[in-house]
Amino acid sequence: MNKEIKKICCIGAGYVGGPTMAVIADKCHEIIINVVDINESRISDWNNEDLSKLPVFEPGLKEIIKRRRGVNLFFSTEVEKNIASADMIFISVNTPIKQSGVGAGKASNLKWIESSARQISKFAEGFTIVVEKSTLPVKTANTIKKILEASNYGENTNNKKFKILSNPEFLSEGNAINDLENPDRILIGGEDEESIKALKEIYLNWIDDRKIITTNLWSSELSKLTANAFLAQRISSINSISALCEKTGADVQEVGLAVGMDSRIGDKFLKVGPGFGGSCFKKDLLNLVYICDYYGLKEVSRYWQKVIDINNWQRGRISGIVVEKLFGTISGKRIGILGFSFKANTNDTRESPAIEICKDLIEEGGELQIYDPKVSLINMENELNKVLIKNTSNEIGSWQYSNSIEDAAKNADALIVLTEWEEFKKIDWMIISKLMRSPSWVFDTRLITDIEEASKFGINIWKIGRGF
Ligand code: NAD
Ligand code: UDX
Repeated sequence: MNKEIKKICCIGAGYVGGPTMAVIADKCHEIIINVVDINESRISDWNNEDLSKLPVFEPGLKEIIKRRRGVNLFFSTEVEKNIASADMIFISVNTPIKQSGVGAGKASNLKWIESSARQISKFAEGFTIVVEKSTLPVKTANTIKKILEASNYGENTNNKKFKILSNPEFLSEGNAINDLENPDRILIGGEDEESIKALKEIYLNWIDDRKIITTNLWSSELSKLTANAFLAQRISSINSISALCEKTGADVQEVGLAVGMDSRIGDKFLKVGPGFGGSCFKKDLLNLVYICDYYGLKEVSRYWQKVIDINNWQRGRISGIVVEKLFGTISGKRIGILGFSFKANTNDTRESPAIEICKDLIEEGGELQIYDPKVSLINMENELNKVLIKNTSNEIGSWQYSNSIEDAAKNADALIVLTEWEEFKKIDWMIISKLMRSPSWVFDTRLITDIEEASKFGINIWKIGRGF
């Protein structure tokens, strides 16, 4: 029997739930999609008439929302009602690292997954396919299954029947719409042929059959963690080599080019930087480390832990270099920070390397002027308040929000490029050099500035991974 999907409910209207459902709605006009969230202000932002106020900034997203919102795509806080009417439910809630208790600092906090499963168990009606969209530790489907099965005991079981699928999301922020429209692959893990077919039918509306692979549940769950671990490992690899380049006179871009031209290695994810950020890599690596420890695989866990260690070290060494170049002290010196999001084309600051680097520089006494084209003052404040030690001594510096590159450069001794925003590639160094205090420095951790042009105006340059 074929299960026809007429209504989808997605629990979680975040960076994944929102864009993913928007693209499904855009490709499958006959399916009604309700995206629900417990966060009222997030839902009201998704419903904002002014599309520049959507809670997630992604190129191409607002055009889709304009086309489909109120037609077959709806955002609401009505969790119960929309669970009840759905043929298929995607769980796309947050799965951050646990902050306390068993596994603190490493294991995923599955509190939101569990509460979603309990809500589904309680309110679903008839046969419902439950799809894990969130990134989860391998074997989580077992937990969800047990919670759902519990709904068949007691009163009002209402003939509930559930099947669980794993369908991890591989989109990367800033490129989400393109990744969703043209994915490298769609992965569906599950045991029930009918449910797999129902989900596959949805994707077949715009994705080639050959790109849709099906596996067992555990392979699917583990593949997502492994893919992120491999990507993060490549970044730590090139970042570790950047330090060696600086010592030896090699150039990390030249090394990356030469290495990446080997078709067995490939040229993607070899860009040097201040360390990877974002809500996924560190969390998923920590989770992998935790699972390996849990199964007694100490060597494997230590291997993946090193990828995180190198990332922390890379962030820390940047602030160290800035202090060293500015004559060993930045106390009272103004430093412009260019970029606060964890990468370009997103307003997301989760785990951004800028947070720790700014914290280090403030604790060294620097007075930071931070500019990012998409990150709001409130967001910066939230992130920095989390990490800054409340210190009343005079030693600690300060930070302020800047509205433009020029604002960040005003009377600054140094500028540090931390995110690869397009506008930082086209800086007019003649104007900026006049605003800065001499001797002025530019520290480029993304290798995007025009070094020759800046040097013409007497600016000292430090570029990551470039010796001498
Ligand atoms: P997010 O924090 O942006 O969004 C999650 C949303 O779920 C929040 O708005 C929260 O209020 C809501 N929520 C939590 N519990 C709920 C409940 N019981 N009922 C209704 N709403 C609830 O998170 P995200 O970045 O979208 O990530 C979601 C999942 O996808 C995570 O597991 C993440 O690891 C994974 N993932 C993220 C990305 C990414 O680029 N951000 C990419 C691939 C996979
Ligand atoms: C990542 C994965 O790419 C995606 O498949 C998964 O679904 C979610 O996690 P995301 O975190 O959005 O996506 O961005 P990504 O482009 O992977 O960048 C992550 C971090 O690595 C950023 O801080 C970025 O600046 C950094 N990075 C990326 C590098 O430093 N060098 C690179 O070559 C690539």
